[in-house]
Amino acid sequence: MFLRKLVSVIGREKGFHSTKALLEAAIIDGNNIAKQIEKEVRTSVESWIKSGKRRPKLVAIIVGDDPASKVYVSRKVKVAKAVGIDAETITFDKSISQKHLLKAIENLNKDTSVDGILVQLPIPKSINEREICEAVTPAKDVDGFHSENMGKLSVDNDSIVPATALGVIELIQRTKVDTFGKNAVVIGRSKHVGLPIALLLHSDSKGVSGALDMTTTICHRHTPPEELKKFTRLADVVVAAAGVPGLVKKDMVKPGACVIDVGITRVDTESGQKLLGDVDYESVKEIAGHITPVPGGVGPMTVVMLMKNTLKAARKNQS
Ligand SMILES: NC(=O)c1ccc[n+]([C@@H]2O[C@H](COP(=O)([O-])OP(=O)(O)OC[C@H]3O[C@@H](n4cnc5c(N)ncnc54)[C@H](O)[C@@H]3O)[C@@H](O)[C@H]2O)c1
Repeated sequence: MFLRKLVSVIGREKGFHSTKALLEAAIIDGNNIAKQIEKEVRTSVESWIKSGKRRPKLVAIIVGDDPASKVYVSRKVKVAKAVGIDAETITFDKSISQKHLLKAIENLNKDTSVDGILVQLPIPKSINEREICEAVTPAKDVDGFHSENMGKLSVDNDSIVPATALGVIELIQRTKVDTFGKNAVVIGRSKHVGLPIALLLHSDSKGVSGALDMTTTICHRHTPPEELKKFTRLADVVVAAAGVPGLVKKDMVKPGACVIDVGITRVDTESGQKLLGDVDYESVKEIAGHITPVPGGVGPMTVVMLMKNTLKAARKNQS
């Protein structure tokens, strides 16, 4: 009671409208942080070009007509242009054979004017996704999905790291959340999202990847809900990457924890499409210390970290 009153007095002095607002989590503004990084990348690209190098070039491949893929790729192209990276989109019909797609990737691998190649996922079920990821030469694999890049990340060697994982770590670091020796839970174990996030949370901060030294638990679809709650309640950082709207509820979160919501699920509503995260945002923000919104959290970070990866690839390919 006394504490609440004290908080209320301090809150009024600091301009908060209510004690509730003061007690709520600080919102991690992914749009704002991504804008700052965008400026940093633009400056690096400019000095790269001033040093006499060729402008970096990114090629994005879309297979089929998935509307979400088109939105994601057009956002990537827009940000690429904003930071001074040349970007091109190649769209193939969903009926393209695996052989033809592999041939197109092979041509881009050989094209010396191209620094980065990404194949927007998902691709049609008729094509083997893993074989496509393996076809992009590791030096141009700006998504970091090739097993050579994933393997290097797991042994903490220099590699191209998947952009969403980089974005999550950057959000945590720029928010100055205390991570050394603390507990983290990643919900989701996919090879391109959950796993690389967990690798970066748990690895050595003195290593190449500049990771966070956290004691890290990976939970997945076979983690029973009661067990999931046990783990998340111990976590100082919870990263939700399951694609299950509202999975993380208030009673699953330790007071003051940092909650990063990677999940994006598109749902149709009467007023159009809406994006839902994996975190029950309204209730969890009452208990968390920091929280990312959806949209406006991890999403913009993924795009800008992809640009960082493209510049990194250009530095390697043009050296
Ligand atoms: N914000 C971004 O930039 C960004 C980037 C990539 C993916 N995403 C989103 O992140 C989410 C995950 O993407 P993905 O490609 O890894 O998906 P995925 O379907 O490949 O993997 C989902 C993972 O969640 C786990 N899972 C499912 N239900 C669970 C449950 N009830 N409890 C615990 N774990 C559960 C599964 O075991 C699996 O490992 C999706 O919503 C996707 O749209 C966002």
